[in-house]
Amino acid sequence: MKTKRVRLGVVGVGSWGRMHIRAYLQHASAELVAICDQDAKRAASTAKEFGVGRYFTSVDEMLAEGLDGISIATPDTAHADIAVKAASQGVHVLVEKPLATTVRECQRMIAAARAKDVYLMVDWHNRWNPAYFYAWQAIRNGELGDISYIYYRLSDTIYVPTKMLPWAGESSVMLFLGSHALDTTCWLVGAKPERVFCQRKEGVLTGQGIPTADMYITLVDFANGATAVIENSWVLPQSSPSLIDHKCEIIGSKGVIYLDPTHDRAIAKYTAKTPAGFPDASFPDIFVTPEIHGRQMGFSVESMYHFVECLRDGKRPLTSGEDGLLNTRLIIAAEESARKGTPVKLRNLDK
Ligand SMILES: NC(=O)c1ccc[n+]([C@@H]2O[C@H](COP(=O)([O-])OP(=O)(O)OC[C@H]3O[C@@H](n4cnc5c(N)ncnc54)[C@H](O)[C@@H]3O)[C@@H](O)[C@H]2O)c1
Repeated sequence: MKTKRVRLGVVGVGSWGRMHIRAYLQHASAELVAICDQDAKRAASTAKEFGVGRYFTSVDEMLAEGLDGISIATPDTAHADIAVKAASQGVHVLVEKPLATTVRECQRMIAAARAKDVYLMVDWHNRWNPAYFYAWQAIRNGELGDISYIYYRLSDTIYVPTKMLPWAGESSVMLFLGSHALDTTCWLVGAKPERVFCQRKEGVLTGQGIPTADMYITLVDFANGATAVIENSWVLPQSSPSLIDHKCEIIGSKGVIYLDPTHDRAIAKYTAKTPAGFPDASFPDIFVTPEIHGRQMGFSVESMYHFVECLRDGKRPLTSGEDGLLNTRLIIAAEESARKGTPVKLRNLDK
């Protein structure tokens, strides 16, 4: 039996950092030693709420606790320095998506992890999403033949950029959701992306004083001849029956797969208002982050459990810093394409 408990910390204990905390508290091989947040009040209250013994506002002080690994769940633009600091001290890193917002930052993170031979895993939990895993397996088994087309929609209601994320204006729906969509698509296709053509729509969020685009439509061509169209919107109405709208269609030479992970009617609830104030019809999330009898369930904690088990067993995680760099390159190419109005070729992907 494997008995080693992995000593862990979480940096950034906002809405998603709490998920990391819960995952580590639940996993039998994990010991959540400390948490860290630059907001001292939040660090203290979160430590009290979850019974975490040590809390800090300084990453350096937290790292002095002698940790095996840390999760980084700070805003999208604040991942790199923390990851480099941890990796340079021989601490494994699970970083929230996107790995970082610039190529240079991704390269620094990868170099720091390589220098100390520590893991740099990116939290793309859709690789643990049962529907996507089945689709990926069917593709790998040859059941679909050659993949020619993927349509991938991952969007949020306007609640997310206007009420949930205080830093939405410093990020984008491309970084926040496009990162997931691009990673899952590349993973499904299993070939190198070669060209990106993207259109960006703006106006609704900037009109509300949030300087970020409303949506992106991104076409990606792959080296094996497959093409993907990815749609990411941050302005779906709050009256939508689900906070997230997630759909995918995969067309191959021998078969097709349709995925509907958010509106599949596993449950449809019709009430005057949900406790969160959303109107009538509601398809509550029961697959990503459901809480069942007080336990955090759903596939979002599976990627975090995977990180724990990789550290415990000395296995390399299923996602890497190199995947993160490719993902950020795609996002930057999409922005460039949207700005210029022309397709952008991807070059030097191995550097
Ligand atoms: N995997 C997913 O599906 C998923 C879902 C939601 C968010 N995320 C990602 O998780 C990250 C955090 O998102 P969130 O929604 O929890 O944001 P949030 O704003 O709720 O929380 C971020 C926290 O980080 C703290 N922080 C900021 N800079 C810091 C620093 N330098 N050092 C220490 N603490 C710092 C803030 O005080 C805040 O408490 C983002 O990268 C986001 O894209 C991923």
